[in-house]
Amino acid sequence: MSQISHDETARTWLLRMRSSAYAFGLTEDGTALRHLHWGAHLPTSALGDMLATAQAGLGVWAERLTMSLDRSDEYVPWGGLRFDEPSLKADFADGTRGIEWAYAGQRIGRDGAVSTLEIDFADTSYDLLVTLYYRVYDDFDVLERWASLRHTGPAGAAPVVIRQAHSANWWMPARASWRLRYLHGGWGAETQLTSTTLGPGKVVLESRRGTTSHQLNPWFTLDPDGTAVEETGEVWSGELGWSGSWKIVFEQTPDGRVHASGGVNDFDWAHHLTPGADLVLPSFAALYTSGGFGAASREWHAWQRSHVLPAAGRLRPVLYNSWEATSFAVSVAGQSHLAGLAAQLGVECFVVDDGWFTGRTSDRAGLGDWSVDRAKFPDGLGPLISTVNELGMRFGLWVEPEMVNPDSSLYREHPDWVYHFAGRARTLRRNQLVLNLARPDVAAWVFAAMDRLLSENNIGFVKWDMNRPFAEPGWPGEPNAERLWVDHVRNLYGILDDLRTAHPDVEFESCCGGGGRVDLGILRRAEQVWTSDNTDAWDRVRIQEGFGQAYTPQAMAAWVTDSPNFLTGRELPLSFRFHVAMAGALGIGGDLPRWSAEEMASAAGLVSVYKEIRPVVQQGRLFRVASVATDGIGAHCYVAPDGSSAVVLAWWGPEQCGGGAARSGGAARSVRLAGLDPEAAYLDAVSRQRYPGAVLLRDGLRLTAADAGSGFGSALVRLVRIQPGVH
Ligand code: DGJ
Repeated sequence: MSQISHDETARTWLLRMRSSAYAFGLTEDGTALRHLHWGAHLPTSALGDMLATAQAGLGVWAERLTMSLDRSDEYVPWGGLRFDEPSLKADFADGTRGIEWAYAGQRIGRDGAVSTLEIDFADTSYDLLVTLYYRVYDDFDVLERWASLRHTGPAGAAPVVIRQAHSANWWMPARASWRLRYLHGGWGAETQLTSTTLGPGKVVLESRRGTTSHQLNPWFTLDPDGTAVEETGEVWSGELGWSGSWKIVFEQTPDGRVHASGGVNDFDWAHHLTPGADLVLPSFAALYTSGGFGAASREWHAWQRSHVLPAAGRLRPVLYNSWEATSFAVSVAGQSHLAGLAAQLGVECFVVDDGWFTGRTSDRAGLGDWSVDRAKFPDGLGPLISTVNELGMRFGLWVEPEMVNPDSSLYREHPDWVYHFAGRARTLRRNQLVLNLARPDVAAWVFAAMDRLLSENNIGFVKWDMNRPFAEPGWPGEPNAERLWVDHVRNLYGILDDLRTAHPDVEFESCCGGGGRVDLGILRRAEQVWTSDNTDAWDRVRIQEGFGQAYTPQAMAAWVTDSPNFLTGRELPLSFRFHVAMAGALGIGGDLPRWSAEEMASAAGLVSVYKEIRPVVQQGRLFRVASVATDGIGAHCYVAPDGSSAVVLAWWGPEQCGGGAARSGGAARSVRLAGLDPEAAYLDAVSRQRYPGAVLLRDGLRLTAADAGSGFGSALVRLVRIQPGVH
């Protein structure tokens, strides 16, 4: 059980998680929290001495020469001699900038499996109260942190201007050097894993685009001296829950301390905090493990399923999405035909993508006019939805509610509802502009439009898209226009939360031109995310490998599409495409009328296999037993939560099939498994071959390509554990 304890006399706090601990203490004068520990468990008795050391002066000469406060503040209020990346920077009405604060109390609360600590600091002269939050979860090593700011002055008092407000500041222990791993990419190539070594100065990961971004994702790992590997080694990892512009700063201070501070991006942002108002900052979660990168990922996955994703106990359905098949050319007849074919494959949710609403014949028009296009659906969506429901599937629909095309009734009526500067052009991207969702009236309109759509139609699934970054982030007439960066996201969250409350049976997929909005913030409100617009299965192996570093496969939507792929032109066998998409939440996005009878039959067989392995893939423990980036073959071993079975999925390509594999026809590879019981035996559910667990772990499993003709090989093996003593 996780536990938070406070020793009032020693002025220390200890957060004990499943197999790690986190500690800090209050300085004697009550003006700062000093970080003490984050890592393996340690005895409570150690904390007093650690705080004394953390407080001890550097000695007269060192103090004079250092010219700064080289102390590890839990949260760094900018003021005095602090030069570390600040957590908080505020301006007051009389021109005073910077903060001086003092401890003002703490509370520890428990709600089921969750314990929360709140610590207040009040500015010593001005009306600003800062509360630091720490949250731990039974049976997890994840620690969530955030902060909230409150203007405590009387009504009518001048606002406090917040210029930077991070959610948390994480200190690493003293080590010689640190490797930083993170996810970068672009449209069609999201979540690519890369790494760098931290040195003196800062590394900044951020988005200034108004969305989480394809380019960088707010997740990282730090391991000391680059020593961690997949299944061993100390790893510290963090994930920010924010779907707008964000920033994480990794800083090695001049005296060699390393910290990671992050939250909403301060670039171009300012928030006027008014009397009585609160600004609650997003959560920044982090964990420590000694079990390598694999253990860090598994911890993230399990925690997301237990405490982040809505209704994660419900398995993700096999869905069909019409985008690659029909693009904007949707019609009742065409979609009904697709639905019939999808049902034959065993699809459970049929999603009509873009193109169904008024004026939407291309990406040039229609966004904002969320009524069904009567030219395409003369009797509304009802008849198609009935057809889909009668075929035994849920009906899903694509929307992009934060956007407007200038060629739309909405824009003609409300040209001032988009972000813009009075004296500048409005930069179009994909022929569209971003609605000013920070405006309460616009947010209310968006909610009402979506609420109406969901109330009038039997919609069970919404794909919520967002296809462009912000530009000209102006809000003419609003004195605090810079707050839009944060308010847009807060209002987006509010709309999604309200829609979920009003329509509790509707499931949501977050999409942003592919995987541009994947983060813990959106995952609290969306059962799944669209991983990438690139559905080329070979490219996807790498994208998915990066995705899985940070996020659970349960939330990772993956479609089987046509060959050759519409984006890359690459041809891949149907089995390969399925094996790749089966690594997450399986979907199908091909132009089914063009699939042969043989392909349809194979696909139906593979969908039914997926349904059997789905609980293990979506809710099991994922071991990355080979990496396409480093081993030339990607392979996952998913182990059921109770260990009773495992699923192995592996994918390799021709450029890696040289050497021995080429001599053996390029059709077979061996992979050492992980996560299995060395004492047990395992039975291949198809071939009935028995393997001792110890042999699978030590020597590996021989994988035979399902279809090696193309040079691309893939395999799916289902292993059933035979209890020790039975074999
Ligand atoms: C971008 C998405 O990522 C695609 O899947 C598709 O929904 C298009 N938008 C539709 O415009």
